[in-house]
Amino acid sequence: LVAGIDSSTQSVKVVVRQAGTGALARFGQAPHPDGTEVDPAAWWDALGAAIGIAGGLDDVAAVAVGGQQHGMVALDAAGEVIRPALLWNDTRSAAAAEDLIDELGDGDRAAGAAAWASAVGTVPVASLTITKLRWLRDAEPEHAARVAALALPHDWLTWKLSGGTDVEELTTDRSDASGTGYFDASADGGAGAYRPDLLARALGRDDVVLPRVLAPAERAGTAEGASSPAVLGPGAGDNAAAALALGLGPGDVALSVGTSGVVSAVVDHPVADPTGLVAGFADATGRYLPLAVTLNASQVLDRVAGLLGVDHGGLAELALAASPGAGGLVCVPYLAGERTPNKPLATGAFHGLTLGNATRENLARAAFEGVLCSLADGLDAVRTQGLDVASIQLVGGAARSRALTAIAPTVLGRPVVVPQPSEFVADGAARQAAWVLAGGEAPPEWTASRSRTYEAAQAPEVRERYARARELTVERS
Ligand code: XUL
Repeated sequence: LVAGIDSSTQSVKVVVRQAGTGALARFGQAPHPDGTEVDPAAWWDALGAAIGIAGGLDDVAAVAVGGQQHGMVALDAAGEVIRPALLWNDTRSAAAAEDLIDELGDGDRAAGAAAWASAVGTVPVASLTITKLRWLRDAEPEHAARVAALALPHDWLTWKLSGGTDVEELTTDRSDASGTGYFDASADGGAGAYRPDLLARALGRDDVVLPRVLAPAERAGTAEGASSPAVLGPGAGDNAAAALALGLGPGDVALSVGTSGVVSAVVDHPVADPTGLVAGFADATGRYLPLAVTLNASQVLDRVAGLLGVDHGGLAELALAASPGAGGLVCVPYLAGERTPNKPLATGAFHGLTLGNATRENLARAAFEGVLCSLADGLDAVRTQGLDVASIQLVGGAARSRALTAIAPTVLGRPVVVPQPSEFVADGAARQAAWVLAGGEAPPEWTASRSRTYEAAQAPEVRERYARARELTVERS
């Protein structure tokens, strides 16, 4: 048996699977406080509880941790956590991100962005660890002065599982390191290397222990900290772990439709987008995982369902009763502002309402089409980075909506594959654990879970109309 852990923003999940086939054996989940800063001790407690619910690790041969990316876990010389971890969804370092860009460009924002993209594959935004370090230096200098080692959530949990007390024994993997802003995944022939010079720009010094970056199937130790003899895998960032579970190979795209939308794809070459729309992360197999985020996905569908007084099933029924194109009605879904395209102050709108098309059915259909058009914009952004799309998998909570799966191929202009809903992050970590056990160049092939392919006639006019409406976007006043 092997175990995979998903340390997410809300909870810790543990799946136990057969190492050879991937068949599910057991599962456990335990919540912890969420928010944008959390004491890592809460993750460790939740992990213990989730392992208990999943029947323990006594009979498990290997375990690996997938985790939310970017979180700053600052440790002192004794290995104690200095302050609650600042997470990916904490935006207090937005100004620090802009300062770091300006400084690297000597005041020229575009030059600075290009320099960051070429140095580490990513232009700093508030999510990235490096911006949190600059914020710490300026806002909490007494904490910054104590920092002796830095870890990401998955690194810290792997270390705790190993029973680690010495910060010199911290490990990470290339995928999660690539989200820090001080690691260049393309250096050293793709093995990657830290950029202490950039770290020093943020924190003011570089005499900090950084986790050793393990190869994709390298052992991180054993799970002594959980009283288990299981071998520990290197772990991965959550998006890379999910890609491993989905079996994404070069050209394969995952469209995750959750609260926000995440478009990620596996490619063979390093990615450096100077516009900052696409993050040039690494994957968990030695390749790259360019990724774009849209801010308006299932929360828009939830809101429109609420306005129409229906539940998710009701919204799908209404949308499927309308024709493609919703009678000319277009929803631009930027209710939360938008990140792809980069319009943080944008507002949403319904365009093209007439006495003829203003029906509940068309409103529902336009909402689905709008969310999908915005995801298609994210996919276009990733495509600009040399992605030749081989396949598209639709995942995330909203992928369970029969309207989304039916409408997606009309908007995206190609079939979409919907895998059976699963704990993709924990499953990817479990597959990595099986890889660590089996060794070899590639992760073991597991029995494919059931998936369904959805096809439909293309409706290119939907994106054409959307593109015109998108240009009419009004900023919030
Ligand atoms: C990626 C990102 C999120 C977190 C969520 O850049 O910030 O997907 O990894 O856990």
